[in-house]
Amino acid sequence: MIIMDSKKFYQKLDRVLGIPTLPVVAFKVNKMIQDYDISIDELTRIIEKDQAIVSKILRLVNSAFYGFQSKIETVSHALIVLGFNMLRNAVLSVSVIKTFSGTDTCKGFNIKDFWRHSIGVAITGRHLAKQTHLENPDDCFIAGLLHDIGKVILSEYFKEPFDQVLTSVRDDGLSFYEAERNLLPLNHAQIGGHLGVKWQLPLSLVDTIKYHHEVREGVSNLNQLMIVHVADIIVNTHNIDSGNAWDFSNIYPKAAEIMMPQLESVSDWFTLVATEIESACETLLNEE
Ligand SMILES: [Fe+2]
Ligand SMILES: [Fe+2]
Repeated sequence: MIIMDSKKFYQKLDRVLGIPTLPVVAFKVNKMIQDYDISIDELTRIIEKDQAIVSKILRLVNSAFYGFQSKIETVSHALIVLGFNMLRNAVLSVSVIKTFSGTDTCKGFNIKDFWRHSIGVAITGRHLAKQTHLENPDDCFIAGLLHDIGKVILSEYFKEPFDQVLTSVRDDGLSFYEAERNLLPLNHAQIGGHLGVKWQLPLSLVDTIKYHHEVREGVSNLNQLMIVHVADIIVNTHNIDSGNAWDFSNIYPKAAEIMMPQLESVSDWFTLVATEIESACETLLNEE
């Protein structure tokens, strides 16, 4: 039974996505994703406007995640050693996580676990893209980071229905996605897609967010979508079992076929990727 009228749901969603804090970060994110001509000076300037971001970036760069020998003390130095794309991804991660830090989320929703999952999918997606040469690894990183963003919107602004979804997951033994489908007029993937359209994100990114649970042909970038879809399932399966019992039965058949070599060897490479995820989370998710 759908617990909230779909018209009301849409109206509220439109209101929520129009609140002032979101467009600021949206603008920044968008500029960095789409404006490939953005100059080094411009990027440095955007970063340096926000001292909290500067200190987070420098801590991230100096963390075990990157493993540099000497200490990096300025943004321009970070840019030299990391390169433009890596720095851009680091900045994006820090800003998005900061904006959606979920100080006021629903009780059963742990925002740190949420970001741990998203960072996991981002890093795993980047790895898959590098291994398969199917897609730009940095774009897959960003898509992975944002794929479940609809859940944060749900937990912050649709507390009551979200709470019922979580209860149904717990009591009825359903997956989050199934419970959502039973109870809400829109699921988190559609909500995220809606947000992507509002933010004027690239269509490939919007499609990846929107269809990550239901891969389909005809989207604007099928390879990116399949990579994030597979990365999501790898990370989820790994979290649930925390062992080597992977369950890839829900992977879209074409994606499973294309990424067969990576799926077959997942136990070999994922250990290293998991360390990378852990180290990124340590810096990105810990308070100063
Ligand atoms: Fe999802
Ligand atoms: Fe996910």
